[in-house]
Amino acid sequence: MAVKKVLIGLALTTLLVGCGSGSSDGVKFETKPSLGEALFSDVNLSFNRSQSCATCHNPDQGFVDDRTNDASIAGQTSAASLGDNGSSIGDRNAPTAAYAAFSPEFHEGTRERVIRQRQNGIGAYEGFLGGQFWDGRESSLAGQAGGPPTNPLEMGMPDKSSVVDRLKENNDYVAAFELIYGSDIFNDTENAYEAMSESIGEFEKTAELSPFDSKYDLSLTGDYEYSIISKASIGKTRFFSSDLTCASCHQLEADSSKTELFTSFEFHNIGVPENTALRAINGVDQLDTGLLQNPLVVDDSEKGKFKVPTLRNVAVTAPYMHNGVFNELETVIEFYEHAKLRANDMPDSSVNPETQLAWQVPEIDENIETELLGANHITLDESEVQALVCFLMTLTDARYEHLLDQEKVESCGI
Ligand code: HEC
Ligand code: HEC
Repeated sequence: MAVKKVLIGLALTTLLVGCGSGSSDGVKFETKPSLGEALFSDVNLSFNRSQSCATCHNPDQGFVDDRTNDASIAGQTSAASLGDNGSSIGDRNAPTAAYAAFSPEFHEGTRERVIRQRQNGIGAYEGFLGGQFWDGRESSLAGQAGGPPTNPLEMGMPDKSSVVDRLKENNDYVAAFELIYGSDIFNDTENAYEAMSESIGEFEKTAELSPFDSKYDLSLTGDYEYSIISKASIGKTRFFSSDLTCASCHQLEADSSKTELFTSFEFHNIGVPENTALRAINGVDQLDTGLLQNPLVVDDSEKGKFKVPTLRNVAVTAPYMHNGVFNELETVIEFYEHAKLRANDMPDSSVNPETQLAWQVPEIDENIETELLGANHITLDESEVQALVCFLMTLTDARYEHLLDQEKVESCGI
């Protein structure tokens, strides 16, 4: 139904354009998504012409920032992004722009979780859901896309009209904007800027960013089969079972849905520690209060919560968490084991495998989701940890499979 509507919409647009401005001959970008794709990768939309959306959301790397820079530790991918001015470093890890189109608008509501977890005594979620960014503060993709060009920490343009001037430098853009949005589009800066943001948003909604063609997806259509004895298969069973609570937060729809996004778009504080190494470099000295940074949220009971991220392509989008504090998926899973013990006030002598030091305390030690974190029924030994990582590796879109560690792929039996 939705697809039909879009098609009709497209047909109408073509018709109207056809009537109005005659021929589209020679126009390089004739649709919003194709125009948006060009804009997404255009460094001219940043002050020093040094970075585009694609710099921090690289289409070849799962739409994340894979650069190493001054904020990286020992050659690892940086936890936060370097801005166009070449010196400012952000405080949050760039999430993938892939599959972001499916996040509902930011709202407050109730979400029934998958039945098995309900039977397990864990009820529905009530609270904030969706939006863009770790704190959901931007409601739509188009709104989001309008932010970075004039953000001083990102693309650094002084104002919207200087961005529009950059658009006008490019004859292909001028022709495309006039064809798609009407010949008077550049008469009004606000309208032209909005058209730019909308086109980028329309590109982000295409199958280019959401191909749904990982091994997991293929298994749903019978085009791939998890070998029953493989680690990946064991991890898959664990992930979706009530032995662990991963699925309560990272499963959106009923089992085997073909549009599963591996995020519920809920907000939780799971007790992620501060990234002190990053802060030593970027100089930020304020705690990240997460959801409380969203202007629509004022209640202290939301402090420290972050949007549950999608797990699609997660094996190729390190580092992890809102502040990039962990570099390996194994560490993330070990962290949940630590979080379980902590939630249940149990003794814990485990260490962060990346630092070999005791786990750091949560950045915000309030509102931690102890109920779900504490409800994992099994103890994850090393082979269980590995099995979960193996399953997560099967959530990698076909175009990124070559980025996976091939030895691991083999040992996972993928
Ligand atoms: C300098 C790096 C940088 C640039 C350039 C940049 N982004 Fe981002 N992007 C980020 C960071 C960091 C976040 C998370 C910010 C937060 O949560 O506060 C983000 C968040 C997003 C999200 C939200 C994803 C989600 O799941 O919440 C989308 C979509 C996105 N960016 C698209 C874009 C587009 C489109 C552009 C170009 C107009 C762009 N970004 C330019 C770093 C960047
Ligand atoms: C209470 C809800 C909840 C549960 C239960 C949960 N997660 Fe998460 N998960 C989150 C949130 C929220 C984040 C981001 C936290 C942050 O950055 O502060 C996250 C982050 C992650 C990340 C990092 C993704 C990225 O791109 O940075 C991975 C991987 C992950 N979870 C896997 C799992 C697995 C595997 C399980 C089960 C063992 C699990 N999660 C259980 C809510 C949950």
